[in-house]
Amino acid sequence: MLDIIINGLWLIIPAYCANLFPVLMKGKIPIDFKKKFVDGHRLLGDGKTLEGFFSGIIFGSLMGILQIYLQPFMGQFYVFQFQHSLLTVILLSSGAIVGDLIGSFVKRRFGLERGAPTPILDQLDFLIFSLAVVSIIISIEFSWVIFLLIITPLLHYSSNLFAFMLKLKDKPW
Ligand code: CTP
Ligand code: MG
Repeated sequence: MLDIIINGLWLIIPAYCANLFPVLMKGKIPIDFKKKFVDGHRLLGDGKTLEGFFSGIIFGSLMGILQIYLQPFMGQFYVFQFQHSLLTVILLSSGAIVGDLIGSFVKRRFGLERGAPTPILDQLDFLIFSLAVVSIIISIEFSWVIFLLIITPLLHYSSNLFAFMLKLKDKPW
């Protein structure tokens, strides 16, 4: 069980960091440049900005690079079943950011406004997409995925609540 927790979290840190950072940026330029889709609703909405996009990928990747440097040192205490490489870190960070965009695209197609709570999709879009992308180059244990599917909504909800209390976010989800 401990192996599942440690490896699962070690794997997903770049994606979590990428997903967490954009809210701090208070970006202004919407990725969709306010363009509407054929259904009359925004393509992505004002909650997805260029600043958030790039800062998320960069921050997630930097945290992942830090992990790469820590891995040999950590080897004294714990040997991870998989080790991050520059490629896993970049794929996880960009996969998280793109997965979050896909989630917003889907929400807008259902006519949901920016920030409308959409349980499961809001918490898991970035996770599922980043895991799917990184699994192209590494094999991921099924048990890690199950663990992450359970723990992520809890962590996502508590970190958003925290951001809301710090007035970084308008809504607590
Ligand atoms: N954010 C950003 N750029 C991104 C992703 C997020 O600037 N690519 C910022 C926005 O300020 C956004 C906040 O992070 O409001 C929280 O992200 P999220 O909850 O994913 O966006 P929502 O505002 O809830 O919009 P949506 O309904 O599209 O999910
Ligand atoms: Mg949201």
